[in-house]
Amino acid sequence: MPQIIVVNQSGEESNVEAPEGRTLMEVIRDNGFDELLALCGGCCSCATCHVHIDPAFIGKLPAMSEDENDLLDSSDHRNEYSRLSCQVPVTADLEGLKVTIAPED
Ligand code: FES
Repeated sequence: MPQIIVVNQSGEESNVEAPEGRTLMEVIRDNGFDELLALCGGCCSCATCHVHIDPAFIGKLPAMSEDENDLLDSSDHRNEYSRLSCQVPVTADLEGLKVTIAPED
């Protein structure tokens, strides 16, 4: 099972197991990071699951949908490594990924 590193809003890093087939949002939420609000439960309509992806991994993720792109535009903390974590499925390619929970808007 891939291991990933989650960085919270205080900059603290934690290693967590990320089962394939879950989304990054589910993995982060289920490991107790309650600063990732994920208010819509993963249906790509809230943008409260915003994360910044390790630059080395950004190319390994599926392309962003128009909805995800529009939602991220509503964040003051968007950068070129921004994704909505509910739209990122865990795959074996994500072994060692570092993902940072974006500051709250
Ligand atoms: S949980 Fe709402 S957009 Fe990801």
